[in-house]
Amino acid sequence: MTATSHEETRVAAITTGLDRFKRSLRAGARTTRPYRFREPVWDSALVANAETSPAVTADMADFGYLPHECHGRPGVPDSLAMTGPVALLTSEGAQLLREIGQALKGSAVHNDYVVSHRIRNVETVSPFVHAMVRDAAFLRRVSALVGVPLIPHPLRDAGVQVNYYEPPAAGMRAAPVAKWHRDGMNYVFTMTLSDRDEYEGGDYIYYQGRPEGFDARPDEVTSAGSHHPDVRTAPFRRVGDTLFTRGSRVYHAVTPVTRGHRITLAVSLFCPLLGKQDENRFWHSAPDDGLLRTVNNWRHLHQAIRRPGSYCRREGIPILGTSNSR
Ligand SMILES: [Fe+2]
Repeated sequence: MTATSHEETRVAAITTGLDRFKRSLRAGARTTRPYRFREPVWDSALVANAETSPAVTADMADFGYLPHECHGRPGVPDSLAMTGPVALLTSEGAQLLREIGQALKGSAVHNDYVVSHRIRNVETVSPFVHAMVRDAAFLRRVSALVGVPLIPHPLRDAGVQVNYYEPPAAGMRAAPVAKWHRDGMNYVFTMTLSDRDEYEGGDYIYYQGRPEGFDARPDEVTSAGSHHPDVRTAPFRRVGDTLFTRGSRVYHAVTPVTRGHRITLAVSLFCPLLGKQDENRFWHSAPDDGLLRTVNNWRHLHQAIRRPGSYCRREGIPILGTSNSR
């Protein structure tokens, strides 16, 4: 793992205001190459068993949040901020997913919003991923990690994504940098599909504090990057290593890759018991998905929030219990 220079962690301002609106109008016009990879068949046996304690486990209080600011409701506490790296899949399962991630690259679009290339709505193009995120064993595994029941997110466009990070092409001046941001999603599982020795740079870094702390001094934090006393680096090492983050509440970024390739799978899930606490915002998705599509997606989300049981039945999603065991 290489040290990160100040220049590498410089970030551009995330899109806002008029730029967001313009992107929302353009987004629907993008097309991708068809995906023709002959995928393996998903099997529940590819879900990993629970292992020993992960290197990082932090509650919302560790990020400075007060109890009344946390998600949850009486009888359903929901205060985990981060845990990992953990294995959600066996090593065989992670390798299969890596091959799928590599094959999907041809269908990914250039993206200067957060990463270099990205494919959204992976559930729709990959039968393997579609089956994985609605497999009862997989959902039990992720739900047990967080302590609340989790199901595939109704905003399917943003639900499962594969992100591609690489150095700039020859002759290009600057690497596309991942910008410091918070996600719209509350429950985000980031799985690396690359081994750590396959790339340099590409550190997943996060701000250990409240968002206001970051917002009060963004230049100081972004210029110091991983050297800042309040910035931590997630210890991803092997293909399949997965970090859970409460993405909507924790500022995070990825430093530019300077050698090799880094691929990650991001799976965002939804808690049907706490649907009203979903933190997605319309204008967070619209620049990626386009205005009309986002309106439709929003209708779908609010149906799921109002009637989660019928949403699960319609989508073939297993309904799990409310175990709070981690
Ligand atoms: Fe993110």
